[in-house]
Amino acid sequence: MERARLGLLEEYHDPLTVSQLDAIGVGEGWRCLDVGAGGGSVTRMLAERVGVSGSVLAVDLDTSLLDELASDRVEVRRHDLLSDQLPGAAFDLVHARLLLMFLSPRLGALQRLVSAARPGGWVASIAPDFTAVALSPTSLVWQRVWSRFLDAALAGGWDPGYGARLCGDLRAAGLVDVHADYIARCYPGGALPSRLLSLTVERLRARMVLLGADNDEIDQARRLLEEPASTIRSPTTCMARGRRPDHS
Ligand SMILES: C[S@@+](CC[C@H](N)C(=O)[O-])C[C@H]1O[C@@H](n2cnc3c(N)ncnc32)[C@H](O)[C@@H]1O
Repeated sequence: MERARLGLLEEYHDPLTVSQLDAIGVGEGWRCLDVGAGGGSVTRMLAERVGVSGSVLAVDLDTSLLDELASDRVEVRRHDLLSDQLPGAAFDLVHARLLLMFLSPRLGALQRLVSAARPGGWVASIAPDFTAVALSPTSLVWQRVWSRFLDAALAGGWDPGYGARLCGDLRAAGLVDVHADYIARCYPGGALPSRLLSLTVERLRARMVLLGADNDEIDQARRLLEEPASTIRSPTTCMARGRRPDHS
């Protein structure tokens, strides 16, 4: 299930990451760090771009899906961003997609990413804002379940609205030339982002039930996400980047 969710997550976000890496100009010879690299799709993209003269360090708490990517230009390390030390001022690009919203303190984690970038280097991130999600036609069941989803995310230490704050945090962490794009889209039930949302609800089911959600209602809400007659406004995705100042 989690592998399937990661696969959908990559399929949805990879085209956004391509445009972000294009905008930054990541290319031949760059030294890149991919933090919370997960299933490795961004690591693969970076390795292709940096060529034989560049390098990619891919780190995650769980490297089981990354180990096979190790090569002459890709190094894989098990790493906890909240407690382990990263090389300082070492990378042209530090990348963290769909990671910061899960961590606490978020700004402290971001500052660790900034310290790993060389002066003048880039920090790039993507974060969703789940508070923007809406389903129509709506129902009381959906509203109850969605409200429990947000409660469960918060109770688990996530910030479900982090996408709305990412840009401000990049500035607060001292980055310059900060730029953010926000992508808000609607999809029919059963489309890729709707299925992704359904699997994300499933991932939080146990915690939602602990907070009072009803299992049958969660099933009904998931069916609504899969039902072609539903229209779902998916989480607003924030794609943001900034540069470490040249003299820092
Ligand atoms: C939602 S997945 C995103 C994976 C990948 N960045 C992507 O966008 O396809 C979040 C990843 O962050 C990793 N992660 C969570 N907490 C972490 C931490 N403290 N340090 C490093 N990685 C972490 C998880 O193991 C997981 O692989």
